[in-house]
Amino acid sequence: MKIYLETMGCQMNRLDSELVAGALRSAGHEMVSDADSAEAVLYNTCSVRLHAEQKVLSRLGADGKRKADGRLRIIGVLGCMTQRMGEVLLQQCPQVDLLCSPGRLGELPGLLSAAAGGEPAVALDAPRTQPPDATAESALDRLDLSRDPAATPNPRQAFVRVMRGCDKFCTYCVVPHVRGPERSRRPEDVVEEVRRLADAGRSEITLLGQRVNSYRYEHNGREVRLAELIERVSDVPGVRRLRFITSHPSDFSDDILFAMRDLPNVCEYLHIPAQSGSDAVLRRMNRGYTRAEYDALIDRAGDIVPDIAIAGDFIVGFPGETEDDHAASAELIRRSGYKNSFVFKYSPRPGTQAARRLADDVPAEVKTRRIGELLAVQEEVGLAHHRRYVGGRVEVLVEGVSPRADRQPTPPPVGQVQLTGRTRGDHVVVFDGPAVLAGEYVQVDVLDADARTLFASREP
Ligand code: SAH
Ligand code: SF4
Ligand code: F3S
Repeated sequence: MKIYLETMGCQMNRLDSELVAGALRSAGHEMVSDADSAEAVLYNTCSVRLHAEQKVLSRLGADGKRKADGRLRIIGVLGCMTQRMGEVLLQQCPQVDLLCSPGRLGELPGLLSAAAGGEPAVALDAPRTQPPDATAESALDRLDLSRDPAATPNPRQAFVRVMRGCDKFCTYCVVPHVRGPERSRRPEDVVEEVRRLADAGRSEITLLGQRVNSYRYEHNGREVRLAELIERVSDVPGVRRLRFITSHPSDFSDDILFAMRDLPNVCEYLHIPAQSGSDAVLRRMNRGYTRAEYDALIDRAGDIVPDIAIAGDFIVGFPGETEDDHAASAELIRRSGYKNSFVFKYSPRPGTQAARRLADDVPAEVKTRRIGELLAVQEEVGLAHHRRYVGGRVEVLVEGVSPRADRQPTPPPVGQVQLTGRTRGDHVVVFDGPAVLAGEYVQVDVLDADARTLFASREP
């Protein structure tokens, strides 16, 4: 069957889609990039904010018409939204033929055959209070272990799951409800997967977990934590850059920073969301740390790894957020000197503690103003951060031709194009060079910077 698969949401979902696409290909299906030519459309969905869900619902409406016209056979919904809504989704959208939650993705090829035969095709996770389903878990493990290392969307980069689920229950967040309890993968399995990816030329590896620093695998009474896992993965021949996302500010031990300082292929990059700069808000969010503890962590990171690049996340307009709380977030952005921040408007998610207990009392226009204010502070801080690199030399993994080839004042010389790539610290770099450099690591001299980009030149 010709299948179109579209992905919303975080890196975890993108990885799931990559693995699922591989499994569907192995089952004899063809993945197509154009929805109009597909017999089946699948959405791998995100529930983290209302907006993400609305987008899928409007797509499903349009697909329903195509199905009624006979141009489409199967509509399937995968991922976090299926688990959040369950069979209600089928009642609301009767055109949908297949539901598959994140914990059941290992069974997708079978579900698709069932749907093609007109049988019910619904696989949802048991509620997280019940013991995990051993069959579904081993099907999931197989999905990771049987991945085709040459099928990553980028020929140099690969994402590798080290954990599933989340136990943190931040009060605003749907992830623990839809991705189930935290389970860490066996370190041997992670290392083996990285080895196969590195053998296939994937030299930039990113380890994935919702709070990756709580990685914990116990075997024979001994516990492997993230720093040790990083060390073992960094030993794999061919791994030139190693990153890990996303870190949670509590339970973040210095041994992770020492690994970053001491292991040459571990990149000086940390994504460590604060969510708010105010203790009162952090408490209502159940984040599990204070502002002072977050500040101390950022200071330690800068002391141990002086050239570290830090990225943050913030939520504006969380219930009860005052102007003073908001000012504290702005001040935290300034103090932390982030490379970049992702800023979101609070979106109440059904089933979460915050949605149940706290009124969404910050008006929409106040959220809009606050998001603008935090982004403006981030713009200043990001500019200062990027300017630190001007006059120096950085290593870039070249991704390809810059999608916005207007970012340099002069057009590239004949035979060259404007290339874009990333540094070890995940900074975007643009510079002129021959197109054949795509996929290569090159040294460039940084001439200028704005809040998001380093402008560089390369000695031929
Ligand atoms: N596991 C990661 C990220 C999870 S979701 C972590 O803990 O850092 C990614 C980001 O979405 C979060 O960092 C948060 O900033 C944002 N987010 C999560 N739930 C949200 C909600 N209900 N409304 C607005 N933003 C939200
Ligand atoms: Fe959500 Fe908090 Fe878990 Fe991150 S740590 S996934 S924000 S509950
Ligand atoms: Fe969204 Fe699920 Fe990721 S809710 S952010 S796709 S874990």
